[in-house]
Amino acid sequence: MTRRDSLRWVAAGAVAAANTWTATAAGDATDRERRMKWWHEARFGMFIHWGLYSVLGRHEWVMEDEGIPVAEYELLAKRFKPRPNAARDWARLAKQAGQKYMVMTTKHHEGFCNFSTKLTNYCAPQQGPGRDLVKEYVEAARAEGLRVGFYYSLMDWHHPDGARCATDEAARRRFVDYIHGHVRELLTDYGKIDVLWYDVSWPLTKEGWESEKMNAMVFQLQPDIIVNNRNGLEGDFATPEQRIQAEKRAWESCMTMNDSWGYQAADDNWKSPKTIVRNLVTCAHGTGNYLLNIGPKPDGSIPEESVRILTSVGKWMDRNGPSIYKTDLCQPGRSNYAGFSRDGNTLYMHVHFWPGETVALAGLMNKVKSARLLATGQEVKFNQEEFRVRFTGLPLKAPDDPVTTLAIELDGDPNQNTDHVRKDRPRRGVGV
Ligand code: GLC
Repeated sequence: MTRRDSLRWVAAGAVAAANTWTATAAGDATDRERRMKWWHEARFGMFIHWGLYSVLGRHEWVMEDEGIPVAEYELLAKRFKPRPNAARDWARLAKQAGQKYMVMTTKHHEGFCNFSTKLTNYCAPQQGPGRDLVKEYVEAARAEGLRVGFYYSLMDWHHPDGARCATDEAARRRFVDYIHGHVRELLTDYGKIDVLWYDVSWPLTKEGWESEKMNAMVFQLQPDIIVNNRNGLEGDFATPEQRIQAEKRAWESCMTMNDSWGYQAADDNWKSPKTIVRNLVTCAHGTGNYLLNIGPKPDGSIPEESVRILTSVGKWMDRNGPSIYKTDLCQPGRSNYAGFSRDGNTLYMHVHFWPGETVALAGLMNKVKSARLLATGQEVKFNQEEFRVRFTGLPLKAPDDPVTTLAIELDGDPNQNTDHVRKDRPRRGVGV
């Protein structure tokens, strides 16, 4: 390529990028579909909350919730001395768990930047860590073939303009330039970034944050990226928090494994692997994603319970992955001991309370063609009556753990109608 050709190529690229963000800012559906394809298929991601709060080990809101003065809190920056490349263990665990992407806090509400920035010295390379922790994370995720996401909190308890920007225009100008400057650095210095995950837009409105302009910059720098909805705009996906709620648009439920996002040493309220698998099934049922959090310790190591839980979920995903990834919206939903997901004409019945030798399902409007245990491929016998299908000859004890999945092949789109059962069930005759 001659120099002139290469210049032309660069110029063409810039025009293409500019077109992309204009189209995206206008909410172009085809472009959104293109950018979001991998994410819809990924279904399961790892959230990582890590920062100065990890040193105290009392939740990421400790600065606010204990009323710690800025000058006192700042001292933590020197005490934060994680071991090199701790992120490699996170990425390895995420991969083992069947997670396809990661989203790490680059800056949480406390204002400390885990990345290298020219805009403040309150950042990892210039404080205790002595190096760029975001760079290590990005490299670790890529080494495991995982997509890379950046969480970034707009709210900032450390920056002197972080609160007064609401009432003082000069402060707002400085602060918004600072925040946009960070976003620019994050999306310029680390190669291709797959997700930008804004958080907490207090104390400004989307006009105050200049969110349209911010997103336009984001798409100009990273034409393939997807963004969430927490900078006051709709973004590409909704972010229900600590609950699973299917929405009419793309959605991702983020959730802690205990009750804290940042490391909290004494928080022992861990969810069981069964709860996590059931949550994944609920997400798959409504074609949402599940972003499950770890809160590494100050040295970067992952709390043992989180490792135990994710390892066990990963083993289940190895056997049952097809029922979770790339699944379609699933209509059947009624059972007292199972959840459901669906891929085309295959209905997955995920039994979490194993009833014994027979598993039954009411009101299925399709004809069952065959059934098998997803984990082993073993054929399952069934008999279908008008209002009930029974899967029979199963073991007394659940054959898989923590949830057993039956893959049921149907003659069409899975459809369950339990009203039909109630209304049209044959009555017993005299005296009823
Ligand atoms: C909330 C919390 C924050 C956490 C986030 C994750 O906004 O303020 O600590 O990072 O939820 O979704």
